[in-house]
Amino acid sequence: MDENVILSVSGLSKHYKYYKTLFDIKKNVIKALDGVSFEVFKNEIFAVVGETGCGKSTLSKLILGLTEKTSGEIYFKGEPLDYGNKKKDFRKKIQILFQDPYSSLNPKKKIYKIISYPAVKNGVIKNKKKDRIDFAAEQLENVGLPESTAFSYPHMLSGGQRQRVGIARCLSVRPELLILDEPVSALDVSISAQILNLLTDLRNKNGMSYIFITHDLKLVRHLADRVCVMYGGKIMEIAETDVFFNAPAHPYSKTLMESMESISFTRPNL
Ligand SMILES: Nc1ncnc2c1ncn2[C@@H]1O[C@H](COP(=O)(O)OP(=O)(O)O)[C@@H](O)[C@H]1O
Ligand SMILES: [Mg+2]
Repeated sequence: MDENVILSVSGLSKHYKYYKTLFDIKKNVIKALDGVSFEVFKNEIFAVVGETGCGKSTLSKLILGLTEKTSGEIYFKGEPLDYGNKKKDFRKKIQILFQDPYSSLNPKKKIYKIISYPAVKNGVIKNKKKDRIDFAAEQLENVGLPESTAFSYPHMLSGGQRQRVGIARCLSVRPELLILDEPVSALDVSISAQILNLLTDLRNKNGMSYIFITHDLKLVRHLADRVCVMYGGKIMEIAETDVFFNAPAHPYSKTLMESMESISFTRPNL
């Protein structure tokens, strides 16, 4: 086993069966993920790009154990990823930051409760109000928010502040791998730049790996160490970011890049 590999995925597939119409007798099969293999290194930002429906969210659900794989293997630091194994604490080690900071935080809970919840659940701190507040204040500081945020409700915060709270919650259990599923696509450009800088700083400070799911190739160019291009449940290409942008190897990668250029060309200058 390579010591530098944090996540290794081999031949991973997820096939969904569904009825096309009410009157179908036979189920149809959709290959949401079809024999995918790759490795993510320690401390790496590994970008996964591809159009809607290519299987990005299915991939993250499988890594998080939120759905059953059809076939294939996932290894975390050389061990089979099995969330049933309490001793290994995989749940703590792999976290996800969701796209939408508006819907991913419980609107009825104060921020200190939201942030300290995973730590309480995982036995990192005791379920006592003072402990939870102290703990949350520390996490808030890490993401550049004032301590007083601890007593706010999510609706009292801006989109950028909410996403910082989301990050604080993810990082509170000190994960080694963070899945970022379109982490800034719901935010303004200037706010998303701040959030991305924060994520890069935190990666450099704490030593984590990111799987960065996005459709924005500009962000990939700016942030990622390597790029993985997906299409129709399959991987088309994996390359170092510089190599990828200078000379994309796969015809689909070229199409993706061209479409990005034409979009930015037609976008009004706001
Ligand atoms: N629960 C499900 N049942 C049936 N089909 C699904 C389900 N989840 C996803 N799919 C299909 O699998 C494919 C991949 O979806 P998804 O992983 O969400 O793609 P992405 O995140 O890249 O947009 C799509 O065609 C989608 O319609
Ligand atoms: Mg998705």
